[in-house]
Amino acid sequence: MALKISLARTAALDTNAELVAVGVPEGDIKRVDIVRALGKVLGATFAKLVKRGEFTGKKGQTLEVATAGVAKAMRVVLIGLGDATSLTTADVRRFAAKAARACLGGRAMTLAVAVPAGVAGGLRAAAEGVVLGAYGYEEYKTGDRRSKFPLERVSLLTPQSATGALRAEVALGQSVGESVCIARDLINMPPNDLYPEVLAARAVDMCKAHGLECRVLDDKALLAKGMKLLSAVGQGSARKPRFVHMTYKPDAKPGETVKKLVFVGKGLTFDTGGICLKPAPGMEEMKGDMGGAANVIALMAACSFVKPRAEVHGLIACAENMPDGLAYRPGDIFGSLDGKTVEIINTDAEGRLALADALAYGRELKPDFMLDNATLTGACVVALGPTVSGFYSGRDELADTMKRAADKAGEAMWRLPLVEDLKDQLKSDWADLKHMGDRWGGSITAALFLREFVGETPWIHVDIAGPSMATKAYDIYPKGGTGHGVLTYLALIDELTAGS
Ligand code: BES
Ligand code: MN
Ligand code: ZN
Repeated sequence: MALKISLARTAALDTNAELVAVGVPEGDIKRVDIVRALGKVLGATFAKLVKRGEFTGKKGQTLEVATAGVAKAMRVVLIGLGDATSLTTADVRRFAAKAARACLGGRAMTLAVAVPAGVAGGLRAAAEGVVLGAYGYEEYKTGDRRSKFPLERVSLLTPQSATGALRAEVALGQSVGESVCIARDLINMPPNDLYPEVLAARAVDMCKAHGLECRVLDDKALLAKGMKLLSAVGQGSARKPRFVHMTYKPDAKPGETVKKLVFVGKGLTFDTGGICLKPAPGMEEMKGDMGGAANVIALMAACSFVKPRAEVHGLIACAENMPDGLAYRPGDIFGSLDGKTVEIINTDAEGRLALADALAYGRELKPDFMLDNATLTGACVVALGPTVSGFYSGRDELADTMKRAADKAGEAMWRLPLVEDLKDQLKSDWADLKHMGDRWGGSITAALFLREFVGETPWIHVDIAGPSMATKAYDIYPKGGTGHGVLTYLALIDELTAGS
């Protein structure tokens, strides 16, 4: 059931909710309104807690107290905001997510969040945060194993009176949050139920529900189109590959020309490694190897609400990488949509093959900008750790814009270099290209391979192998599929369309 989010002007302690979350800036907290108010109703015990310095408002710190009948609100959680003079929308989103997550642990079904004042776009961010923090995936749990206390109602407390514009801001935040959760659901879905045909069908359903255009190429159609690399990756599976093209078009304004932006996602619904089989421990995580595609579906959904002044195309290359009598193998050589021939070295480096054809397809659309995102290499996780994505671009200005977008979105992304010295590793004795180099710099050689298929198009490649799934909840992300990247791409679209 969808969360009900409303606006209210009540004082925190007078709010009729099982849990009330209030942000507290770091410093001398005794003077903070909520601390004073709690001191008044709770008396000496609370004062002692504050005096002992158990809670100082440090970023991320929390203190939960029960009001035991002395206030309307059943429980209050104070959440440290850190330096509140420089609060950003990302801080507000993180705070609201933390508040919602406190409900899941504390069995509260109603929550009130005192939205920190003075942050432009703060209400939208708070609504996004609440939805992102309340997320859980229970589709495959039965009976008592399902949560008995799901969060149902949230009031956002703000001193402003609820105008239509403010309500619209909250509704937009909720829709964007729910869009990100589309990616999470898809990533968490088990691979026996989510195979390429189903992933494509989910994209079609999303497009129908959100008023977007959508075209699916089945295995025969994508091969007829010339996508021989995507076809090769999927040829070992009984579940055949699919390619999906989703389109968002803004309402035409007379005389306006808009930019064309393309977003591409790797949609490996399961990656066994193929003939170069992966080791068994942890292989189940490869159900999330369609995280890039899931993000693109989520982004397209979000665009239908945010309505950017740009044409946005979403392309996903869906396949399952399986070992089989008909599977592709090392030594095979395939053509590609771009025309270049590629020698296969390791069937576990399948993502870049699927992406190569998708990028060549995207290039045909003659876009002003193209971005691909993929759970592409373990090497990227080695380089940056599990919570940071690596991104690549040959253009410094575009890379700067990307970093700004990620920072605004509050997502951890770091630029990595396209090291030209490593390019020779992609030379093949038998074909135009090999699809991989040696071990060192494995994320970079993957990016260099992809670059062969984008031509002159301004392009960014994002390796989300680390943060696309989380081993435990943190920040705005739950355990499992995170949707990391979607908020950054939305912020990037904002940057790229600024002034238009
Ligand atoms: N899907 C994996 C990359 C991956 C690893 C994603 C860990 C998420 C977590 C990708 O297809 C892969 O297997 N990459 C290989 C490439 C190698 C064979 C050149 C890798 O990183 O080991
Ligand atoms: Mn692989
Ligand atoms: Zn893979």
